[in-house]
Amino acid sequence: MTSTPQLKLKNAEVKVYSNLDLLAHAAATLLSHRLSSAKGDIAVSLAGGSTPKRLYELLVTPTYLKKIPWKRVHWFWGDERFVPPDDPQSNFSMFKTTVLSHAPVPATNIHPIPTIGLTPKAAADVYTQELQRFHGEKVLSAKNPLFGVVILGLGEDGHTASLFPDSPALKERSSWVTCANLNQAVPRITLTYPALESCHDCLFLVTGSAKRTILRSIFRGEIFPATRLKPQGRCTWLLDQAAVPNS
Ligand code: 6PG
Repeated sequence: MTSTPQLKLKNAEVKVYSNLDLLAHAAATLLSHRLSSAKGDIAVSLAGGSTPKRLYELLVTPTYLKKIPWKRVHWFWGDERFVPPDDPQSNFSMFKTTVLSHAPVPATNIHPIPTIGLTPKAAADVYTQELQRFHGEKVLSAKNPLFGVVILGLGEDGHTASLFPDSPALKERSSWVTCANLNQAVPRITLTYPALESCHDCLFLVTGSAKRTILRSIFRGEIFPATRLKPQGRCTWLLDQAAVPNS
């Protein structure tokens, strides 16, 4: 891991790794340490997309499988595409294939965003109730964060979760879950800033040369949905060298 001085973000630590595998191991170590040091049940908000796949695969290898307190970890999603859970586009489907099918996760600890038999709005309301049931409170507070760890990716347009540029979801500061992309072929359900910011640790995973351009803009200080997120706890951006802008 090398710390690259010019890659600085306000209120976040930036760590650069030579390649995706080293980044995934670092993320797995951070995650398993946070989970094993927590007292009682702890919630994780999972990122979708392709970047976290290697991290998820590592979680069920012997090194991490034995470190994670599977009975105490509750798995939630930061966003979901409004498709059936067995659809290849589903964020739940990817985590089920990589982790849930290989680890001793109690069924009651798996909290997918519902995407069948409901409208997107109804799904957002149901998921809000699921989060509040787990949290035990209907109000978010700094003293008792909703999540132990929030894992997020970064889109090439600067979105994170399904908080896209110019989306009304960016203005949502009271609901915990809302809809996005309702006018698109695949609507999205996403946690809002207040819910995603309510965490002890937030990990952004950004890899690959396709993310160089957006990272260059971010490190120049331009504002995007991903950089507007202000986690209550520690925020760490993990980049691989391929994603680091070269100027
Ligand atoms: C999703 C994610 C989304 C993702 C970014 C990066 O549902 O797609 O929540 O925010 O993290 O789009 O996607 P990649 O990891 O595939 O580049």
